[in-house]
Amino acid sequence: MSRIPIGIVLNGVTGRMGYRQHLVRSLLAIREEGGLPSRDGSLIWPELVLVGRNADKLEQLAQRHGLTEWTTDLDAALARPDVQIYFDAQVTQQREKAIRAAIDAGKHVYTEKPLAEDTDAAVALCRAARSAGIKHGVVQDKLFLPGLRKLKRLIDGGFFGRILSVRGEFGYWVFEGDWQAAQRPSWNYRAADGGGIVVDMFPHWQYVLEQLFAPIRSVQATIATHIPTRVDELGQQYEATADDAAYGTFELEGGIVAQINSSWAVRVRRDELVEFQVDGTHGSAVAGLRECHVQHRGTTPKPVWNPDLPVTEPFRAQWQSVPDNEPFDNGFKAQWELFLRHVVDGPENGAAFPWDFAAGARGVQLAELGLQSAREGRRLDIPALDL
Ligand SMILES: NC(=O)c1ccc[n+]([C@@H]2O[C@H](COP(=O)([O-])OP(=O)(O)OC[C@H]3O[C@@H](n4cnc5c(N)ncnc54)[C@H](O)[C@@H]3O)[C@@H](O)[C@H]2O)c1
Repeated sequence: MSRIPIGIVLNGVTGRMGYRQHLVRSLLAIREEGGLPSRDGSLIWPELVLVGRNADKLEQLAQRHGLTEWTTDLDAALARPDVQIYFDAQVTQQREKAIRAAIDAGKHVYTEKPLAEDTDAAVALCRAARSAGIKHGVVQDKLFLPGLRKLKRLIDGGFFGRILSVRGEFGYWVFEGDWQAAQRPSWNYRAADGGGIVVDMFPHWQYVLEQLFAPIRSVQATIATHIPTRVDELGQQYEATADDAAYGTFELEGGIVAQINSSWAVRVRRDELVEFQVDGTHGSAVAGLRECHVQHRGTTPKPVWNPDLPVTEPFRAQWQSVPDNEPFDNGFKAQWELFLRHVVDGPENGAAFPWDFAAGARGVQLAELGLQSAREGRRLDIPALDL
């Protein structure tokens, strides 16, 4: 089988997402499977160029995985004629200028979210990508989670009747870093370094709500920094200047009300780290990362409010599990495969990629308006972006 080598610059590959999800679980996994079949049956073969700031780390990482191409010089990597795609998993603040350099170098661009730090910058990147005629995409991994795929299947199958509301609960306890190491990088808790849970999570909620349910018409958010001081990777105490919890209400087109709590200062008494309950006239569902449970109107119990009695119903047991019915691959890998086919086969051959910079810009916009709403203590409409 002939191979189509496709050069990919991976920037930020030493980070949590860049290494685990994008390098190991996606691109190396595609190579381990022998390549990705393209439309004509040839195998798309990712040729990787690792880019980062620390030569020692890059060299070690490359050696560990039998890779030979790495550099600390992004411009040199972008100048390589054998490179077609630039991928960015750096800290968010470094993203805009690197993507701009990649667009200027004529490369296709795929990137972690958020696309940029503010809406103007995201819109500008979208325009630049379009006028350069390159292909562009933003990671929207939650759409590819088994739990949300099953939820989408229920929606497409008309399970809910008219959807009334969505309630999302995301979060877990992120240790402060003193007596137990924090399980997230410290920049996430410093506003000046691009941190904050709104900037991190609202881009996800934007595409989940818009693509599963309906476009978002307004946002109202209350935010908090519940843990004011934390301890960083070097054991130094620092002031947490970014929001670590956000309580958001989103009104969707058609009257669906969505509420999503996002917090790094909650303890989990749920089945999964994120769960969405969807209630409709004909049925309800609770979808997590992997699982999805449903209750149809015909099996809905009729509890009567009486606080004097112990609980009368085994509420959890009254839900049914939605079967997989298909294999679910890693969500990041599934989206990489679609982007690679988009680049190699093209939308004209059925390889469309709707999760582009315009979609990414809408995610940044929701985060920005969420923060503004919290600052001003009011609900804000979401205007259409001029893209
Ligand atoms: N899709 C998702 O579910 C998801 C989850 C977490 C993070 N992310 C996104 O991925 C990106 C990286 O997040 P992460 O959690 O992997 O972070 P991380 O701190 O683990 O990694 C950051 C990477 O950026 C590099 N970097 C470049 N310039 C830097 C600078 N000036 N300061 C610090 N690091 C610098 C680091 O070397 C490292 O490779 C962020 O944009 C974040 O929003 C996405």
